[in-house]
Amino acid sequence: MHNSTRIRLIEPSDAAAIAAHRVRDFEAFRPWEPAQSADFFTPEGQAERIGRLLAGYRAGTVWPGVVLADDQVIGQVTVGGILPQPHLRRGSVGYWIASLAQNQGHAGRAVGLVLQVMADELGLHRAEASTHLENLPSQRVLRRNGFSPYGVAHSSIFLDGSWRDALLWERVLGD
Ligand SMILES: CC(C)(COP(=O)(O)OP(=O)(O)OC[C@H]1O[C@@H](n2cnc3c(N)ncnc32)[C@H](O)[C@@H]1OP(=O)(O)O)[C@@H](O)C(=O)NCCC(=O)NCCS
Repeated sequence: MHNSTRIRLIEPSDAAAIAAHRVRDFEAFRPWEPAQSADFFTPEGQAERIGRLLAGYRAGTVWPGVVLADDQVIGQVTVGGILPQPHLRRGSVGYWIASLAQNQGHAGRAVGLVLQVMADELGLHRAEASTHLENLPSQRVLRRNGFSPYGVAHSSIFLDGSWRDALLWERVLGD
């Protein structure tokens, strides 16, 4: 049982590990993660994607993280859609953990750590997330971190061959 989880900003050298996880989990993630083009599953394609994520980080719209256990990359945690304006100060949390490392509390701890980054480093006031209505593990992760469901967005995301409703989650981080 792992009880140490770290997060840090993603780096170009994470590309091979991420591609390997996503190849291995292609079938397992199909119901929950959007379909991706073939280059998503190669180290070269991931390196390009990481470059785009880091450009978003420099622009202030994304905080792209990886999740580490025993110093190995086991997943990603990302704050996207950051709206830093003083009257908004919000961002949306997304994450995945490789199947081989699931159900050991890593996602729950990684989301807790990224909420600290949002509040302390990014100065955000509000965190949002969305889950598939049937993604109970993901919903547990959010509940454990103080998120509450506040609505359903209908026909919101194209997953596994059709448009799905999304359960919307919020957590106020404070000032
Ligand atoms: C969702 C996901 C990130 C969870 O990662 P994880 O590291 O296994 O999460 P944790 O171990 O922190 O917590 C999992 C929780 O789900 C619970 N759980 C696991 N399988 C479950 C099931 N079939 N039904 C209900 N609850 C379940 C666990 O008991 C745990 O709850 P607890 O905190 O009350 O003990 C991971 O399963 C994943 O990456 N899935 C595929 C991609 C995905 O769904 N991403 C999120 C999109 S919104």
